[in-house]
Amino acid sequence: MDKATYKIAVIPGDGTGPEVVREGLKVMTAASEKYNFKFETTTFDFGGDRYLRTGETLPDSAVEELKKFDAIYLGAIGHPDVKPGILERGILLKLRFTLDQYINLRPVKLYPGVDTPLKDKRPEDIDFVVVRENTEGLYAGAGGVLKKGTPDEVATQESINTRKGVERCIRFAYNYCRKRNRKKTLTLCGKTNVLTYAFDLWERTFHEVGAEYPDIKRDYAHVDAICMWMVKNPEWFDVIVTDNMFGDIITDLGAMIQGGMGIAAGGNINPEGVSMFEPIGGSAPKYTGKNMINPLAAICAGAMLLETLGETEAAQKIEDSVATVCSRHLKSLAAGKMGYTTTEVGDLVVANLP
Ligand code: IPM
Ligand code: MN
Repeated sequence: MDKATYKIAVIPGDGTGPEVVREGLKVMTAASEKYNFKFETTTFDFGGDRYLRTGETLPDSAVEELKKFDAIYLGAIGHPDVKPGILERGILLKLRFTLDQYINLRPVKLYPGVDTPLKDKRPEDIDFVVVRENTEGLYAGAGGVLKKGTPDEVATQESINTRKGVERCIRFAYNYCRKRNRKKTLTLCGKTNVLTYAFDLWERTFHEVGAEYPDIKRDYAHVDAICMWMVKNPEWFDVIVTDNMFGDIITDLGAMIQGGMGIAAGGNINPEGVSMFEPIGGSAPKYTGKNMINPLAAICAGAMLLETLGETEAAQKIEDSVATVCSRHLKSLAAGKMGYTTTEVGDLVVANLP
């Protein structure tokens, strides 16, 4: 039977975004031919350059248009000539919020042959997934400022946690943990000893929902302790669920222990809507246009995208190829130190597709 043609919106974005997205699409195209599926892309130019040219970040009409796609593939958002916050809030966070991508899924996996800064840790020790809440918390934008610029200035930034938002995130994490079928352990990462309102809600919800998942072991750790354990005993973790801010912080730590930003991918997921996949490393202005940046994170984000569309085989084979390229070819995952250019790494992943 003829399968549908997936419609993918591509936002290459800023800095090295276009370079890595090009390699990701190269790999997805090769995979589509090999593993028999079809997709077509539509490119959108949202990002710093467009903003500097037109003053526009992401028009509401674009959000409506993006809702018609099966998935969104994003390079990077962030431009050295634009004040921090404008593009992040105006594009990246606006997409996450308006498309209600309430999960930020970030696998932390050390591939064979990749260097980790953690002494004596091997691939079997570093393989867990962070489920980060993606629409609430400190990112909601609640708060304000009084008497700005005076000695009496007051600034507040509140963390918004709704029962609905917390529950749907925790439920996703339990389901994901069950489906992943490894240690069957879900760890709640919080700060119940200090943030006694927000994480009381998280903790109660965690246990109430957890009662419906008797096959999943429940574990809790404060966020500061999680940082410690991620370095000391990463093998303890299977799936970690946490709020937006803590998730942001611990996944940068996660990226480092899995070998760096060059390989760290993530998905902004709306299980009932349109999801968006991105390398989590940002726009890397220093390397822009130099054909030096590592495209593996973007390629892995492409694999996550295909997985979400149901192209499980293609996703798995891309991951297998990335693992092969890491173990047999690349000298390092760091930009400029791979022993290959950005384009060549993309070619290697295509050539090694099993
Ligand atoms: C990330 C990034 C973003 C975030 C920034 C760019 C707004 O750091 O995707 O982790 O804080 O979520
Ligand atoms: Mn981040």
